[in-house]
Amino acid sequence: MHLAALHTPSQIQLNQDGHLKHFLTIDGLSKETLTKILDTAQSFFNDQNQLITNNLLEGRTVMNLFFENSTRTRTTFEAAAKRLSANVLNIDIARSSTSKGETLRDTLWNLEAMATDIFVVRHSSSGAAHFIAKDVCPHVAIINAGDGRHAHPTQAMLDMLTIRRETKKKFEEISVAIIGDIKHSRVARSDVAALQTLGCKDIRVVAPNTLLPYGFEEYGEDVRLFNKMEDGIKDCDVIITLRIQNERIDSPALSSQAEFYKMYGLNKERLALAKPDCIVMHPGPMNRGVEIDSSIADGAQSVILHQVTNGIAVRMAVLALAMQGQLQEKGLLEAIAG
Ligand code: NCD
Repeated sequence: MHLAALHTPSQIQLNQDGHLKHFLTIDGLSKETLTKILDTAQSFFNDQNQLITNNLLEGRTVMNLFFENSTRTRTTFEAAAKRLSANVLNIDIARSSTSKGETLRDTLWNLEAMATDIFVVRHSSSGAAHFIAKDVCPHVAIINAGDGRHAHPTQAMLDMLTIRRETKKKFEEISVAIIGDIKHSRVARSDVAALQTLGCKDIRVVAPNTLLPYGFEEYGEDVRLFNKMEDGIKDCDVIITLRIQNERIDSPALSSQAEFYKMYGLNKERLALAKPDCIVMHPGPMNRGVEIDSSIADGAQSVILHQVTNGIAVRMAVLALAMQGQLQEKGLLEAIAG
């Protein structure tokens, strides 16, 4: 499927009251919806900055359906669902009947018949989560945990929560550089969309031309391209480094990883060009010595592990908001998110 075909009409993602129903992509969602996700996520931290536990999703079943490998995303969805007191089932796709020729649709209908309320789906095909969302029962929610190179909306929201919590500045006031393999990265696409929706005016994409997506010019005038790393990160408040997505690259985009590190690797000298309080982020998994030097990954400006913790809060928020209709009947959600 061509990625342009996936510019999701917001009505698929919202119910008739305008609340989140599925979470498939950032595209088409309003600043209010994204802010609601951030505020709800923030409400899941207590005064000591620790994640809380509650019973918002007691009696609900969340099914993790990961057709692609994952460490952080799958585990933090599980941790989030458990903190909301949901039942969590992790489907072992490698051992499931999809390997016996069953279609995705049939697998899904069978899993849906097991009283599932929310499916968290990761798939290597762009559009898989949309495809499923069009086909499930009306009370079932689909959360996209990454589809091909298309979208990774919960990663974008945990990145936004991290920026908000760590910089303590308004999105309108910050400069953000996203560095590396933009072309194959669903994180980059979703981060750019979230930053634009939240009002960021200076989004810089730093990459060689071989790692830029087609149609990049259509991103808008608040997104600028830099081929030279030193220019791209100058005076930035936030740097997001990305892994080279080798599993999605079919023809050589780089001469070598060593060459990439030389041109685009984040090291001390380059980080010194950004603002002194610039934060460094990475969605993981990280390739030390390729896109980022170890001294930076483990250094004082790195918030990479905070992103992981914030991922639990954001995923709690998205799971809770996707069940908002039912929770409102119980009057529970307002009590938490205000
Ligand atoms: C990202 C993904 O899967 O798209 N990782 C993640 O979800 N934490 C980025 C990547 O794999 O490089």
